[in-house]
This record gives sequence, C-alpha cells and structure tokens, in this order.
Amino acid sequence: RAQSAGGSSGLNFTPVKLDSSDKVLVPPGYKYEILIRWGDPLFLDPTTGFDIDNQSAEKQARQFGYNNDFLGFIPLAPNRALLIANHEYTNPELMFRGYDDKNPTKEQVDIELQAHGVSVVHIERHATRGWRYTLGAWHNRRITATTPMRFTGPAAGHPWLRTSEDPTGYTVLGTLNNCAAGITPWGTVMTCEENFHQYFANNDKVTDTAKQAVHKRYGLPGGESERKWERFHKRFDLAQEPNEAFRFGWVVEFDPRDPGSLPRKHTALGRFKHEATSTVIAKDGRAVVYSGDDERFEYLYRFVSAGRYNPDDREANMRLMESGTLYAAKFNDDGTGRWLPLVAGQGPLTAANGFPTQAEVCINTRRAADLVGATKMDRPEDVEVHPQTGTVYAVMTNNSQRGTSGKPGVDAANPRPENRHGHIIEIIPDGGDHAAPTFRWRFLMICGDPAKDKGTYFAGFDQSLVSPISSPDNITFDNRGNLWIATDGQPSSFKKNDGVFAVPVSGPERGYNRQFLSGVPGGECASLIFSDNNDTLFVSIQHPGEGTTLENASSRFPDGKEPRPAVIFIRKEDGGIIGS
Ligand code: FEO
Ligand code: CA
Ligand code: CA
Ligand code: CA
Repeated sequence: RAQSAGGSSGLNFTPVKLDSSDKVLVPPGYKYEILIRWGDPLFLDPTTGFDIDNQSAEKQARQFGYNNDFLGFIPLAPNRALLIANHEYTNPELMFRGYDDKNPTKEQVDIELQAHGVSVVHIERHATRGWRYTLGAWHNRRITATTPMRFTGPAAGHPWLRTSEDPTGYTVLGTLNNCAAGITPWGTVMTCEENFHQYFANNDKVTDTAKQAVHKRYGLPGGESERKWERFHKRFDLAQEPNEAFRFGWVVEFDPRDPGSLPRKHTALGRFKHEATSTVIAKDGRAVVYSGDDERFEYLYRFVSAGRYNPDDREANMRLMESGTLYAAKFNDDGTGRWLPLVAGQGPLTAANGFPTQAEVCINTRRAADLVGATKMDRPEDVEVHPQTGTVYAVMTNNSQRGTSGKPGVDAANPRPENRHGHIIEIIPDGGDHAAPTFRWRFLMICGDPAKDKGTYFAGFDQSLVSPISSPDNITFDNRGNLWIATDGQPSSFKKNDGVFAVPVSGPERGYNRQFLSGVPGGECASLIFSDNNDTLFVSIQHPGEGTTLENASSRFPDGKEPRPAVIFIRKEDGGIIGS
C-alpha cells in the first residue's frame, strides 16, 4: 500500500525520515525556498535593511518580526495574496550578540517589543521563480506590542481593565505572544494571545488578593519576570500596574485589507492562553469560534455569536465577536460530549463565586470553566474544522504530567499517563450543527513511535507503515481534505527535529500518517498553509537554534549565518499539487 498511486487521499510522496541535521528536508521531487525572514524590510525605506549588529526599535517596527508562527493565506487575485504571520515571542539570546539575560538593556527590550505582534505581507507569484514578498506594498503592515487597540464585549471598560495609562479600560497598547490565529469567513484575522504570563513581574506584591489569585491561576510569576521588561516599562510590573495583565490573553480581530484599521480585543471570547481560532457558520447563521487554552489540564472552548453572519454585510460581520455565548467542552466516557455554557448567573457562576456579571466570566474564564466541570485536556493547541465534512479536529500536543503525583489522572479523552506525544480528537457536532449543545467524539491519532511507544493509534491503519510523530501543534487541510500537521516538541520527545506530516482522515488510507518535511535543530514547524490552488505549501520555521546562543547556535538556518526565523515555501519540481 505504501506509495501506491491513485489512493483515495491523492497523497503519493516518499516520506522523509526523522532527522537531526541542520537542513530542511522535503521529499524527492520537491524543493523549498525562503519567502521572508526575521528582519527583512517591509517598507520602501533605505534605513530598514537588516543588520544584526545595527538593529534598532525603529527599524524593527518596519521589518518582519521575530518567531513567525501562524501563517494565513488570503488570495487577492490570481498570483497575488496577503500572507499573515504572527510573531509569537523573542529569543534575545539569539537576536543579540553577548546577550546578558540578567541585565538586558532598554534598547534590547524596545527592539523585542517591536519584534512581537503580526505582519501582513503582500506576496506575488512569478511564473518561474515562485512566490516573492512585495517590498513596500500598500497592504504591508506591522502590528507590534505597542500598536493601539481597543476592547469590545462584556469586559470592555471593566474596572480591572483600567490602568494609569488607560483610565477608561477601553484601549490598550499592543498584542503579545500571538501563537496561532484564524481567518474568519468575512476575511478578518483573529490572532491569539497565548503565553502572556511571561511578560509580567511581581504578582507576589499585588495587594488586592482577588486580583492576585486570578493572576496566579494564569501562571503570572512572583518576583522578576524572566524577560525583565518591567525594569524599563512599568506596565509590566504588577506591583505598579496590577491590571495590565488583564488586558492580555484575548483574541484580537483586525482587517488585513485595511492597513489603518484598529485591532480589537474581543472580551466575549474569554481570556485564557488562546492558541488559535477556527471560525465557521452554524446552520442558523451564527458564527462559531473554536479555541483551545494551551496549558496542561486546561480546556477546549467554543463561542457562539448572538448575531448572524450576512455574506453581504462585511461591516456587520466584523461586529459578530462582540456578543455571544462562551462554552467549555465536557468529554464523556461514552464518546458523547457537551458544551457547558459559561454564563454569569447560571449554575455555579454566581456572584458569591466571583461572577456577578459576564465581565468576570470573560476575565477569569479558566475559573469559570473549573466550576462548571469542563474536561481538563492534554494542552489544547490548534482546532480546525474540516472544510468538507464539518468534523472538528482538536489537537492535544502533549502532557507529561498526566497521571503523575498530585495531578489529574487519565480519562477517556486523555487516555495516556505521562502523555509525551499528544493526540488528535475528532469532534462531530450533533445534527451537523456547530451551535448544537452536544457532540460525539473519537480519536484520529494517538501519537508516538509505534515501534517504541505504548498506546499509539492511527485510526486503525497498519502502524508498521506510518511515520512516527510527536507533539502535534498546528494543522490545516489540503483541497482534497487530507490533514496536514506541524509539530512542536519532537526535539525533546524523539531527540529529532520537528516536522510536517500529512494524514488522510477518510477512505482506505485514513490514519496513514507520513512525514513530509523535517525542520532544523531547535526550531519548531509552527504553522503551515497552502496556496489556494495547493501547488505551494508555506511553512513557518520558528526559533531555529533555540536552546543555544547566537555565539554557538545549533542552527544556521536559513542562510548559513546567524539563525533567523523564516517562512519557507515548498513546491513540486514539476509544478504539481503538493503531496501528489
Ligand atoms: Fe505557541 Fe501552543 O503553541
Ligand atoms: Ca502553537
Ligand atoms: Ca491552523
Ligand atoms: Ca506549541
């Protein structure tokens, strides 16, 4: 069966193997090229060219940011598109020569602030040269950790969102730790603030014990932060600004077609370590957003808008995220499940329990989900809805603490103790309706190396034929409905580089997982997206060399010099469909 042509999946490439060299590997007959890397200028401005030894915050604000994660592809016309890239976080030890983690400089911190956020990059395709980004294109935009934004929804203006810089609680500067994201049916980007706790310091000095407890539930540290930004910007010091951290952990929506548009943080979607969003339209026209909270023993969420999607009214659609109902998932042992509403005044979400209004549910969403009894998952990462079947694919990346001393034990949906390799769950909404209160669920894959690990499962496919895979993170579908998976964690679980995998989810090859790409040392394959005609696959190579320093980096990707996070694109040498 391996490699036989004409399989129902259309996948017919020779898999690459797990590897640890400093080379991106793709199957025979494929080639990869660099599209854009950290520091590449986005605007026509002779002063913004990248020089690692002459970097400045002003330059970085006009360059492609660091640690590209999520990739979105928005077609504009044949051979022209917008590439959306999140810039999740910074690795100062790989950005600055001789970086002293005990004494970062203000200049370094200010460069890092501008290296965070999002890029919108116009890309065009040349007949023979493939894709190139367009320097100085009208659409090009940088959103950074200082870009003005506003809040919408139940928590906008809440006293806990007010700071000395913003006494109204309606505006905020910037977005942080944007991991993955999603493109809505109305063409906006919904980018997600994930591990925001790492930017804040001194929770031990917060005097309001209620606020301190919420910060603790979200992992905000006492004492100094690892990054020490609080030394230069008091908003990151909880002792001085106890509320600033409540202004992060949200979903941020912006219009990539309008470089001047104001990004909005939608509090109705809840506050947690949002990995990604996946937005679909329910049978009755309401917009449904799936989003995972990526931390061990956290939850999978769903938001259902109050208003209905109107394909002819984009302006109205851009307000759908301002009100609706948030739910957390409960997975039952019998393969059924239920979305538990997180609504102030319902069930345990009472004033006595800290939820007098919906604003508190939005700000302290994790506690609300604890109280209703949602299922504690093995780190929910990406969620995507299959474009043909409507089945929801939810990725649990791993959870080495499952079933260990003092931690929750296994359950039906998280069945492996010390789950180092992760799993992927299929959720089938009852009645095919994404707004339905109930669903059925089953596993697609329980990851690992079938030759070495207990309990692996590849949807019943012959496990002697599959490629080993660990720590699935971001996913997407090709036009034939096959699932493509990027991993984050194989360097620790397999002692091999992260990679990209493809697996059919239906037909005789369902579960036949094959490795399509191998990344570079220290670098995760953070995100992947196809061009609309599927003859190109874009992949985010994030933090090459992580775990080492600039002086002796474990990777010299992509140019054989200093490691730089970059977006690559892969094509078939014969110009065919990727995977065929
Ligand atoms: Fe930033 Fe959950 O990966
Ligand atoms: Ca991720
Ligand atoms: Ca995705
Ligand atoms: Ca991850």
